[in-house]
Amino acid sequence: MYQAILQEQLEALRLSGQYRHFTTLNRVCGRYPMARLPEKNDSEVVVWCSNDYLGMSQHPSVRAAMHEAVDQYGAGAGGSRNIGGTHQLFDRLETALADWHDKEAALVFPTGFGSNDATLQCLLRALPDCVVFSDALNHASIINGIRAAGGERQVFRHNDVEHLRQLLASYPLERPKVVVFESIYSMDGDRAPIVEIVKVAKQYNALTYLDEVHAVGMYGPRGAGLAAELGVLDQVDIVQGTMAKAIGIIGGYIASTSTLVDAIRSLCTGFIFTTALPPAVVGGCLASIEHLKYHEGERQALHDKTRQLRDCLARAGIEVMPGSTTHVLPILVGDGHLCKLAAERLLNVHGVYLQPINAPSVPVGSERFRVNVTPNHSLQQIEHLASAIQETFRHFDLPLAEYSLLRGVA
Ligand SMILES: Cc1ncc(COP(=O)(O)O)c(C=O)c1O
Repeated sequence: MYQAILQEQLEALRLSGQYRHFTTLNRVCGRYPMARLPEKNDSEVVVWCSNDYLGMSQHPSVRAAMHEAVDQYGAGAGGSRNIGGTHQLFDRLETALADWHDKEAALVFPTGFGSNDATLQCLLRALPDCVVFSDALNHASIINGIRAAGGERQVFRHNDVEHLRQLLASYPLERPKVVVFESIYSMDGDRAPIVEIVKVAKQYNALTYLDEVHAVGMYGPRGAGLAAELGVLDQVDIVQGTMAKAIGIIGGYIASTSTLVDAIRSLCTGFIFTTALPPAVVGGCLASIEHLKYHEGERQALHDKTRQLRDCLARAGIEVMPGSTTHVLPILVGDGHLCKLAAERLLNVHGVYLQPINAPSVPVGSERFRVNVTPNHSLQQIEHLASAIQETFRHFDLPLAEYSLLRGVA
């Protein structure tokens, strides 16, 4: 009976085009963005949708730090942070993260998902009678944490500061409140109005919790994120980030006041009852962050190449979804089945790896490709991508625009 119930749900996913197939992709160290397909005679493809936004996963200093940590401390941490897992590198990493975000303290979690889920769950329970205000497009990890906390919640329309103000104004000033939002929304590539959100939050006596997962390493002074770029870090009470994207490895974190971080460290079950990250990961993350703090090269190249890619796509008649003002360039397909078929053609005919982004990651009818260039992509690869998408769109009769209509976008 149990198998049949689950089979039925899997079948429903297949029928709706939402069933997920993993592409086995062996990235080639030292040749980013190239990868090989072991199921297709190791043929080579160019990766166009990696969250390794700056190629730091293959950076020589990061790899060297990881090797060094394995040789010095061994492969695993050996326990939770509280029971033997707090090796020396943690202290250095958490100090580096706090310094990055100009906060008193930071706390590292095994993943970015876990850091949102566990922190929000814990914080919202710790603050008596707290109401949380959450952007409608917040990530699943944020939604999970908020739901698990079980308290009162209000969802404000995406990036709608006036709606947030109305919701905040409907509660007494002294009631505890937390406003949770992201700086860059990764499915649309748009930015939050951070300055306006923190202003209204402070007016109504709310704490602010900002997920900078898709900004750290790439925006702001020393790559500290969008709040730092806008000069409002002091108005953000809790910065949350990941070390799995621009930093290139894995792990999540929060940065805040010493008291708040100490409270999460001491009360948060999702932090306490899990094994600490291995030394190689912590050492590699530390090396990557220290590199990104003091080198502009990767950031500059990312933004230059993003401009080149936008321009090339526009010349090929490929429209980037209009909200995007960042390194994330979403291209609408609008149908789950078509998106999959187009991805297969891109891979098999053109050697381009673009994962289809289907529901539930995005609403049904807004299925898309989410393209991002990295410092490692060449101009030739950028031009090849544009012509490959153009050919694929023509093949499936998907709409292409006139270049003249898209020029304003770049
Ligand atoms: C906005 C946002 N927050 C958190 C996460 C989770 O981060 P991680 O991949 O490090 O678990 C993601 C992952 O894609 C994300 O997009």
